[in-house]
Amino acid sequence: MSDANYLSLEKLTLAYGDTVAVDKLDLSIAKGELLALLGPSGCGKTTTMRAIAGLLTPASGTIRLDNVDITRVSANKRAVGLVFQSYALFPHLSVFENVAFGLRLKGIKGRELEKRVEAGIKSVGLAKFVSRKPGELSGGQQQRVALARSMVMEPKVLLLDEPLSNLDARLRLEMRTELQRVQKETGVTMIFVTHDQGEALSLADRIVVMNGGIIEQIGTPEEIYNAPVSSFVADFVGFENIFELSDGALKTPSGTAILKTAAPFDAKGLAWRPANVMLGSGAFEGIVRGTSFAGNTREYLLDTDLGPIKAEVPANLPVHAMGETVAFDLPVNKAAPLNKFG
Ligand SMILES: Nc1ncnc2c1ncn2[C@@H]1O[C@H](COP(=O)(O)OP(=O)(O)OP(=O)(O)O)[C@@H](O)[C@H]1O
Ligand SMILES: [Mg+2]
Repeated sequence: MSDANYLSLEKLTLAYGDTVAVDKLDLSIAKGELLALLGPSGCGKTTTMRAIAGLLTPASGTIRLDNVDITRVSANKRAVGLVFQSYALFPHLSVFENVAFGLRLKGIKGRELEKRVEAGIKSVGLAKFVSRKPGELSGGQQQRVALARSMVMEPKVLLLDEPLSNLDARLRLEMRTELQRVQKETGVTMIFVTHDQGEALSLADRIVVMNGGIIEQIGTPEEIYNAPVSSFVADFVGFENIFELSDGALKTPSGTAILKTAAPFDAKGLAWRPANVMLGSGAFEGIVRGTSFAGNTREYLLDTDLGPIKAEVPANLPVHAMGETVAFDLPVNKAAPLNKFG
């Protein structure tokens, strides 16, 4: 086994009755990696997690963990921890007892139990709260108890299914950092499900973008952000100007538009972030239909023969008025070439 394939999903197909939710998924996760599963509602994220945890039997395919085929191994024998969005702590038990619960079930007791529970509680920064009940903790603190409860079981893989979605914006940010710290300190292999691209970009070593039960792209946050390979991923990570190519020209509502420079020869589409649209000069023109100030930048919505175009420029440049005709360019060297469209 190489550490690069610590957990591997091979041609994994997951179904509910006749409905296929995940189709022939191939995915390898390295030991100690923090992988984010990103995708819209219903794309199969939770289903994939449930299969890894052993809560759903695959229709076909194989799951291997640490060189062992665990496809048919029961959930409690897999050494996989799972933290859900609703973390269901025992309300009548203290933080200590909540964290100790699974270890007691495994027959661990006495000094050994105390040591592991205390270390787990300390690792999530809750040493002062061991005797509190969940009802006496904030949402973020409860979330940390749920994390500690899973971590003390020393899982080979820890699965987190939208664990931060119940928290308010500020706590979310705090918990993100906390999660990353705990993961780096303990070296636990982690899969983190989210439909928030900012969360995936800031947390993960690698991101898997799913759509309709298949993987659209796997890559580092930089790759996903800068070089989406499909129109779906480009749209998902905020490229606003996405075009299909036909014989090297952009397909637009009013026919095809030829670019100054040739598009990469095998590209099926090109996409520009608003910041990569050049405003003020170029072969195209548009009428300003909307403008918004965003601190360092100003965003323009243009009505053009290519359809609506969104451009973002430094806010200190002269302002274009509503209704003004502005020239612009779509530089091919600033575009992400897409090899899959639609
Ligand atoms: N118990 C079930 N029975 C039948 N179909 C289901 C069941 N659970 C999920 N599905 C379907 O399987 C597909 C994938 O669902 P899944 O829960 O994995 O999505 P998800 O990516 O986690 O979405 P969300 O972001 O909304 O949590 C969806 O089309 C969903 O309707
Ligand atoms: Mg889900």
